[in-house]
Amino acid sequence: MSLESNKVFAAVLSAALLIMVITTVSESVFHVEENKPAFTIEVATEAATDAVVEEGPSLAELLAVADAGKGERQFAKCKACHSIDQGGSNGVGPNLYGVLGKPVGAHAGFNYTGALASNGQTWTWELMDQWLASPKNTFPGTAMAFAGIRKEAQRADLMAYLNSLSDSPLALPAVEAAAEEAAE
Ligand code: HEC
Repeated sequence: MSLESNKVFAAVLSAALLIMVITTVSESVFHVEENKPAFTIEVATEAATDAVVEEGPSLAELLAVADAGKGERQFAKCKACHSIDQGGSNGVGPNLYGVLGKPVGAHAGFNYTGALASNGQTWTWELMDQWLASPKNTFPGTAMAFAGIRKEAQRADLMAYLNSLSDSPLALPAVEAAAEEAAE
């Protein structure tokens, strides 16, 4: 009986030793690997960021839930340079009444830079979204000294507000993802 329990004790002891050895070895292996793959980590982060962007709501989805009231508060950032009331005067920038759907750089009486003047484009939702995110990347050389609004939802709110002040508001873009899901 006592011989048996000695055996058991020896077995437990050597198992414990074995675990300690394995732990030490694997820790040192881990440690070595931690130092190595700096670039692998970067790649993984990039992939993760891409995934987040792809999963984010589309412009159409953001516009579908956009809040013109919040957009009006966003417009405080624009007021120093723009009026938006119908027939309002041009300031540092042109009056913005009814700008969505209009040709770019077409407001009467405003002296646009070459970046905007008759560049042949129209203020669609997509173009306005791009412009509000970064004026200077959208039309390089523009005189609109405004860094841009980073948050997509805030741009959507602001566009809903712009669109509400118009004789002929643009229709909201169709929410494609939802339509596709419904079709499946
Ligand atoms: C510091 C002054 C300034 C601020 C702030 C500013 N803008 Fe402008 N904006 C301008 C100027 C100047 C132009 C004309 C640019 C040119 O001719 O290159 C312009 C042009 C525009 C146009 C093009 C209009 C057209 O008729 O094609 C839109 C749209 C616009 N701004 C929207 C906004 C919105 C929305 C904001 C607030 C988020 C804003 N701007 C903030 C100065 C400003």
